[in-house]
Parts: sequence; C-alpha cells; structure tokens
Amino acid sequence: MKTLTVRLPGRDYEILIAPGLLCRAGELCRRALPCAGRIGIVTDSNVAPLYAVRLTEQLEQSGFQAGVVTVPAGERSKSLSMLEYVCDRLLSLGLTRTDAVAALGGGVVGDLAGFAAAALLRGIDLVQIPTTLLAQVDSSVGGKVAVNLKAGKNLAGTFWQPRLVLTDPDLLCTLDDRTFADGMAEVIKYGCISRRALFEALEQAPSRAAVADHIQDILYACCDSKRRLVECDEYDTGARMALNFGHTLGHAYELAGRYESCTHGQAVAAGMCLAARLGEALGVTPEGLSSRIACLVRAFGLPDAISCSMSDYAAAIGLDKKGTGDSITLILLSALGAAVPTKLEKRALLRLLEGMTT
Ligand code: GLY
Repeated sequence: MKTLTVRLPGRDYEILIAPGLLCRAGELCRRALPCAGRIGIVTDSNVAPLYAVRLTEQLEQSGFQAGVVTVPAGERSKSLSMLEYVCDRLLSLGLTRTDAVAALGGGVVGDLAGFAAAALLRGIDLVQIPTTLLAQVDSSVGGKVAVNLKAGKNLAGTFWQPRLVLTDPDLLCTLDDRTFADGMAEVIKYGCISRRALFEALEQAPSRAAVADHIQDILYACCDSKRRLVECDEYDTGARMALNFGHTLGHAYELAGRYESCTHGQAVAAGMCLAARLGEALGVTPEGLSSRIACLVRAFGLPDAISCSMSDYAAAIGLDKKGTGDSITLILLSALGAAVPTKLEKRALLRLLEGMTT
C-alpha cells in the first residue's frame, strides 16, 4: 500500500492507495474514525449498484451502522436542492456530530457529499472513497467541496478536508473510456506543472493499458503533487493555483457548450494546449512544448482544440459584465514540469487569443 500524509495544522490525514482497498474500508475507516458510530454513504445511481453493498458490509463488520443515500448520476446533482435532500436523508439515518459521511463516487459525489458533511450539524467527519480517475487524482484531495448555482459552477462551497482518502485503483476498471480519458487530462496536467518524468513516461506509452500497468505509481505521483500544493496553500490564494493550468481557458469551452457538449476533462485538455501556445507566443514557454502536449492529449482521445466564441473567452477570463479587475493571473509553463503564474492584462490577453484562434 502507498501512503501519503497531508499535513495541515491539527488536521493531518492520509491518502491510502492500493488495489483492493474497498475490501478493507471498514478497518481503515475505524482507524481514522475511532469514535464514530454511524456512517452515511453518499453515492450515485451508477456507483451504488457496483460498490455500495460491499462498502456497507465492510463498514458494518467494523462496528459502524451504515446507511446509503443515492443521488442521480451526473452534474445536475451538484445543486442546492440535492444538498438539502442529502442532508435530510443523512439526518434520517440518525447521524449525529460524532458520526461521519463517506463519499463513494466521482467528482460530483465527492463535492456534494463533502459539502453536506461540512454543513450538516455545523460539520461532521468525511471520508473520500473516489471511484473515477479524475476524483482519485484531484477532487478527493484538498478539501474543496461545492455545489453549482444558476450563475455558474462551484459557486456555493467551502473547504472541508477529509479525515481519510481511500483510493482503490481496482474501482477504475468499470469506467468507460471517455470517463477514463477525462481523468487523464488531470494526470497530464500534473505532468505539465510539476512531474516531468510522469509526462515523459506517458509519452513513451500513451495508452489506457500502459497507464493501468503503472496506475498505483501514477496515482501516487499526482496525489503527491496535489498534497504539496495543498499543504503550502490550503485556501488557494497562491501556489495551489498552479492546479488551474488549462482550467481558465478550458472554462470558456465549458461555457460555450453550456457544460453539456464537452466534458470537464476535454475542456481542460484543450485549455492546456491553448495555454501552452499562449506561453510560447509570450516567450514564457519553450517552443515545441505545446505540440508535445497536444500530441499526448490526442493519444488519450482528448481534443487539442475546441472552438468557441470570443465572448465565451471574455466570460472565462472575467472580461464580461460580471468580471472584476483589469488583469488576470494565468498559469503558464516555463518548462515541462514548471508552472508560473503570469499576470496579464485582460484586454491584451483577449486580443492575443483572437489572433491565435481565428
Ligand atoms: N481542483 C483544484 C484544486 O483543488 O485546487
């Protein structure tokens, strides 16, 4: 088993990574939550039939009373009304302040269940059991939890660190290729911003099968990168922003498609390629790096470009009626494996984007 400890003042927690961990969830949760009597498992309609019974049995064998709350699979469940539903159901399971919530699912479930844990009874313990690649390398670690509002994604949320993250790569075998590729966009991102060797290893063998052969090391490398950034900048005001590489421009593609025509991973992949081209145009990023990133994302079935209007780019960089401030900090690459926050004037950035994308 590979173990990482996220060190935060008074709230250290472990990320455990090993195949078969779901079948040890009871003993591992008991170790992290010695006083909890009940655990409310929050999951979705895709994951529940696969893993909810196994997790319930595991937890009960370790003396927890476990109950399951299932929400419909999909981004629409990240809503205030679903948050209310989940909180009501957790209360009806009899959860008290000394009990815990287990988020069993991908990013939507992790964010929704995490926010419910943060809000319920002014905060109860949380265990993250991520079941998608994206959640295993990114959203289950670091404590960002949220739901979407009509005005946009993740606009109501907080930071609520888990007590434990149980990452079982065996759970990835049920993912379809598109969902797996979505997670690969984030894996490639870690290569770009801090793990040159990971990026180069992916270039050598760019296939799902090759990734599966080294999955434990890949999960460890990504979670370790995130751990470092979260430890030095828990509340995302400085170093942690490196994780936004490809996300700001990717947001334009998500806006253009109203969050429906492309997935988050597809948007991030195309956003990373454009950010690298932008870095090259500005003389920050070495020539040729954008082609390498484009080649790698394509090899994993992700797009290296998505078309969208200048008004979507403007909205994504905050240059619309809702935007504040004249400048934006964009994450660019100064080398493969090195991210640099770069302050740019928004109007100049938009002109550059217009020149590059038309
Ligand atoms: N997913 C980006 C972050 O946790 O900061």
